[in-house]
Amino acid sequence: MPNDVAIAAAETVDDPTWQALARLLPQLSQSARPDRAMLARVVAHEASTLLLARIDVRIVGALTLVIYPLPTGLRAHIDDVVVDEAGRGHGVGEALVRAAISEAHRQGVRTIDLTSRPSREAAIRLYTRVGFVRRDSHLFRYQPTRSR
Ligand SMILES: CC(C)(COP(=O)(O)OP(=O)(O)OC[C@H]1O[C@@H](n2cnc3c(N)ncnc32)[C@H](O)[C@@H]1OP(=O)(O)O)[C@@H](O)C(=O)NCCC(=O)NCCS
Repeated sequence: MPNDVAIAAAETVDDPTWQALARLLPQLSQSARPDRAMLARVVAHEASTLLLARIDVRIVGALTLVIYPLPTGLRAHIDDVVVDEAGRGHGVGEALVRAAISEAHRQGVRTIDLTSRPSREAAIRLYTRVGFVRRDSHLFRYQPTRSR
C-alpha cells in the first residue's frame, strides 16, 4: 500500500468530491451517469459509507460500503470500487477495500459480499488477495422499466 494514501468517509459532496466522482464513475462503467444529488443521498444515508482515497488532497479512488440489517443478521455489501486509471496498481484499491472491511468489522457485520464480472481481472485479483472467497451462486437482476 502506498504510504501517502489516506482513506476517509465523505461527509459532504463538496465541489472537489463531486468533480472527482464525476471523473471516476465513468471509469467504472461507460453507462455511469454521475449525479450529484444521488451522491448526496449516498453520503447522507445511514446505511451507506462513501469511502474516498486521497493522495495529498487529490481524490484518486472511491468505494461504497452498505451495511444493512436482515433477519439473518447484519450484512455488508461493497460496490462501485474505482481507482483513477493513472493511479492503478499501487495499492489504492486494496487500501479502500481494507478500510471497508475494517469499518464493517467494527460495526459487527456477519458477512461482506461483493460481485465482480469475470472480465474485471484486476478487481478479482485484489478481492482474492484481501481474503474474499468466490461463492457459487447466481446473480439475478430485474430491471424496472426506465420510464419512471
Ligand atoms: C479494480 C481497481 C479498483 C483496482 O485498483 P488498484 O488501485 O489498481 O488496486 P491495487 O493496486 O490494490 O491492486 C490491483 C491488482 O490488480 C493487478 N492489476 C492491475 N492491472 C491489472 C490488469 N490490467 N490485469 C490484471 N491485473 C491487474 C495489480 O497487479 C494488482 O494485483 P497484484 O498486486 O496481485 O498483482 C481498478 O483497477 C479499477 O478502478 N478498475 C476499473 C473499475 C473496476 O473494475 N472496479 C471494480 C468493480 S467490481
